[in-house]
Amino acid sequence: MSTDTAGTAARDEDPRSGGPADSAFVRACRRQPGPHTPVWFMRQAGRSLPEYREIRANVAMLESCRRPDLVTEITLQPVRRHGVDAAILFSDIVVPVAAAGVDLDIVPGTGPVVAEPVASREDVERIHPITRDDVSYVDEAVRMLVKELGGTPLIGFAGAPFTLASYLVEGGPSRTHAKTKALMYGAPHLWHALAGRLAEVTLAFLRVQVDAGVSAVQLFDSWAGALSEADYRRFVLPHSQAVLAGLADAGVPRIHFGVGTGELLTAMAEAGADVVGVDWRTPLDVATRRIGPDKAVQGNLDPCVLLAPWPVVEAEVRRVLEQGRGAPGHVFNLGHGVLPETHPEVLTRVVALVHELSARPAHQG
Ligand code: CP3
Repeated sequence: MSTDTAGTAARDEDPRSGGPADSAFVRACRRQPGPHTPVWFMRQAGRSLPEYREIRANVAMLESCRRPDLVTEITLQPVRRHGVDAAILFSDIVVPVAAAGVDLDIVPGTGPVVAEPVASREDVERIHPITRDDVSYVDEAVRMLVKELGGTPLIGFAGAPFTLASYLVEGGPSRTHAKTKALMYGAPHLWHALAGRLAEVTLAFLRVQVDAGVSAVQLFDSWAGALSEADYRRFVLPHSQAVLAGLADAGVPRIHFGVGTGELLTAMAEAGADVVGVDWRTPLDVATRRIGPDKAVQGNLDPCVLLAPWPVVEAEVRRVLEQGRGAPGHVFNLGHGVLPETHPEVLTRVVALVHELSARPAHQG
């Protein structure tokens, strides 16, 4: 059996076998009952972990993403330490864009910085479609991880067209996304050409991860909340839809997440994912009404709460679980990524607390 087939088999195996397809995480994504509410944390790999800082001490961020041995070790660290219900591949949203020929770097403390920001049709044409060979290190890392993780599911991910386009057009992180919006409003054909090309790159990147055996994928549209619903529907939704529709036959749950998207949740739910991520601004019961009955929700503890004394953390975890109870499926997470100053012990305690409070002893699998 080729490794490719093995990856697919891992997803399609008998749901009673205890493999990733039967995990609390995948079951919740599919709105099926499970033993407890699953929990993982966006940006759980890296950041707050001393063992991560040690391994990264002399290796640049992009280089670490291209070394399957490092990717594997860093991805496993939070699983070992916290007992989370899912691993997320250690990588970055700009990895496939770099593989598509864009000259960029990830600058510590700043984020992605692009050497020549995209401003013309020629710039868009230079972003070439990618194949497995352009990101063979990701393929290799996912295959190693699937073996190492056993029954723990691995989440693959990519950046959505709007969030990627913002880095490419601005040249780096932006508070207002002014250049990106100026291009959108002023040169809509160019905008759609850019977003369309990024959707192709993103879909190809996610396909590589699915073929290598990931159990779910998350599409990060972190900065979509900068847009009105009307602009989101006109300029962004069709492109994110193309990515998610391209994975409809992949056999793995698709999660779609953005920050500040309270007003966009109904539209984002139409993008076609199985699970919609919610930040801390919208209570999960309100979010569930906006998202609708045929999708699970993921979220939404404020990452800053983890910096407060434990009784506050505990009360907030209870509230999030309570407000998520009416959703057709709930994956516990933060409303955005783990902050670097978070004490890792707090994350471990949150995992134990979520499991304890949500345990359903009647579930026999
Ligand atoms: O969840 C995980 O732990 C997996 C790893 C992961 C990284 N980036 C590693 C990383 C994931 C899922 C991402 C996604 C990502 N990258 C997003 C979407 C998620 C989100 O937070 O909204 C975005 C917008 C980016 C772009 C990016 N890359 C940012 C904003 C930064 C942080 C800049 C900084 O230093 O604060 C990066 C760099 C980055 N990506 C780091 C890590 C561990 C830090 C690099 C370093 O420590 O040198």
